[in-house]
Amino acid sequence: MALPKSVLIREVGPRDGLQNESVWLDTGEKRTWIDLLAAAQLPYIEVTSFVHPKWVPALKDAKELTQSFNKKDDITYAALIPNEKGLAHFFEANLDTGAMFISSSETHNKKNMNQSIHETLPVIKQMTADLKAAGKNTRAYISTVFGCPYEKQVPMDQVLRLTDILLSYGIDEISLGDTIGEAHPLQVERRLDILLERFPADKIALHFHDTKGMALANIYTALKAGITIFDSSSGGLGGCPYAPGSSGNVATEDVVHMLQKLGIETNIHLPALIKAAEWIEAKVDRTLPSHCLRAYHSQTTS
Ligand code: HMG
Ligand code: MG
Repeated sequence: MALPKSVLIREVGPRDGLQNESVWLDTGEKRTWIDLLAAAQLPYIEVTSFVHPKWVPALKDAKELTQSFNKKDDITYAALIPNEKGLAHFFEANLDTGAMFISSSETHNKKNMNQSIHETLPVIKQMTADLKAAGKNTRAYISTVFGCPYEKQVPMDQVLRLTDILLSYGIDEISLGDTIGEAHPLQVERRLDILLERFPADKIALHFHDTKGMALANIYTALKAGITIFDSSSGGLGGCPYAPGSSGNVATEDVVHMLQKLGIETNIHLPALIKAAEWIEAKVDRTLPSHCLRAYHSQTTS
């Protein structure tokens, strides 16, 4: 299939990127980073997570962060929500998109949500109804679609079953997560062949972690299959605290750079994106995986 003309990027750095970080960023610093990301004209920014603060201490200031939040009109601001308690905080924050989550493997769902898949589904169904009644956008992640740290391969039937159920709730977009960065192009091609026979491509996003350096190759494969929505994280920060072996998401600037070279429109300002990645790299005080950031550093120091 021909490559798409335009692609939507979902920036998940302030949520997925920070949730696994041991370095504490205070609320003001988080806001500064989000503003830098907004300056790069990213269309969607997942700013935090209304999960239990004991489960993800790095985001325990979600309420404070989203109080008197400086929103730009042309950006969709999202947060992760696990249950009705998180949903209540989300409504107080008045963000645009509620991002719910479930895993395709039973063990990861249990470790991540402290409940079974069977128990999580009705919670998502109710939250979707509440979000839609309030006029909010809805998104749901399905994790471990390309491999699980506990159960290894996840059967395709299970991915199809969950995608089907979540779409039947009326959720706007399903993001399929390669939680531990196990996916490879052949697997992506095979899984998308089956998925896209059943579901429209504009309902499916892909969320690649880059543990084994396969994320850009996977995105290229998915582009050729017709997918036009990808999640990524500034600097390549990220990881799920409840998925051992999970490392950073694919770096947003690497994805945008590749898309630009392929002639695919994102409307994202790459120099501003590099500035945001440079800022967060200095804050977490370690070298981040982003290739574009490395190239930028070597140009500016040579
Ligand atoms: P639980 O302990 O089973 O919760 O945790 P509970 O319902 O039994 O309640 C226990 C206490 O927690 C109660 O308080 C609740 O009020 C409180 P108490 O009565 O004892 O004082 N509570 C809450 N407090 C604040 N915010 C809430 C909340 N809910 C209950 N939302 C829970 C269940 C789901 C809350 C917990 O397991 C949790 O927070 N899990 C989140 C784990 C997480 O954030 N993981 C990373 C995100 S997922 C990911 O990274 C993958 C993704 O990127 C895609 C991919 O890469 O594949 C999305
Ligand atoms: Mg993730």
